[in-house]
Amino acid sequence: MHVTVVGGTGLIGARVVRLLRDHGDDVRVASRRTGVDAYSGEGLREAFDGVDVVVDVLNVNRPSYEYEQGLSFFDTCTRSVLRAEESAGVRHHVGLSVIGAERLDSNYFRGKVAQEQLVAQSPIPHSVLRTTLFYENVPRLVDHVATTHMVRLPPVRVRPVSADDVAATLCRLARGVPLNGSFELAGPEDWFLDALAREVLAAQHDTRPVVPDTHALFMGARLRSGDESLLPAWAETSSSFARWRGQVKTRSA
Ligand SMILES: NC(=O)c1ccc[n+]([C@@H]2O[C@H](COP(=O)([O-])OP(=O)(O)OC[C@H]3O[C@@H](n4cnc5c(N)ncnc54)[C@H](OP(=O)(O)O)[C@@H]3O)[C@@H](O)[C@H]2O)c1
Repeated sequence: MHVTVVGGTGLIGARVVRLLRDHGDDVRVASRRTGVDAYSGEGLREAFDGVDVVVDVLNVNRPSYEYEQGLSFFDTCTRSVLRAEESAGVRHHVGLSVIGAERLDSNYFRGKVAQEQLVAQSPIPHSVLRTTLFYENVPRLVDHVATTHMVRLPPVRVRPVSADDVAATLCRLARGVPLNGSFELAGPEDWFLDALAREVLAAQHDTRPVVPDTHALFMGARLRSGDESLLPAWAETSSSFARWRGQVKTRSA
């Protein structure tokens, strides 16, 4: 399979590139470091020549992570990527989005919603993975809101997931038949965001206190305490088939 990973030098992209190559796929990396700019469109068409699948894991510019730029970034880049895919005859677009984006009020999340809508409306068969917060992104979140003395974060529930699990799921989607829809992935545990940040800082021997603050922003969005926007819409139960069958037998006895 011939694949281009747009954003293939990033946290998720580099993992996707490695996994696909390990699997024997021919993989090209498209990012500004390889001469491709998805915002201006420069180099995209060439990066998609002869390619079957495009995995788009772009993100707003490092290291500033200006979340306010999110809407213009994702809208413009996604239009450029889809246009170049259509012109190159790409057969499957695989995207990555955020669970709850439609419930979160910031330009970053408006950008993710716009991206999902553009992908869904495009004629290119697609699969979109929607995930929760990556464990690996907690330090980035902290850096974004930290002062020299403390870190303020909203005390909301999250169910974080690892970048390796996200990358592996993207690769599975890339090798499969397009869903023409989305697939959701979340980690196994609920955390409060401030408690998770506290653990991450402690592991780095960072003694700054993490203060729960309902006025603090999450990637530009305001979340009140008790807000469950960052959680997936589904939850696991504990009833296995064997347990259910046992209960049914007991009831009918
Ligand atoms: N934060 C979370 O926990 C979370 C949760 C769910 C989903 N997501 C989504 O996951 C995706 C990937 O995130 P990530 O953390 O892996 O991102 P990342 O590490 O910041 O990587 C971003 C990638 O985009 C490339 N890039 C940026 N601007 C570009 C441009 N104009 N043209 C071409 N390439 C450009 C970067 O490479 P260059 O610098 O070389 O251009 C880099 O390869 C994002 O879409 C994000 O919304 C994130």
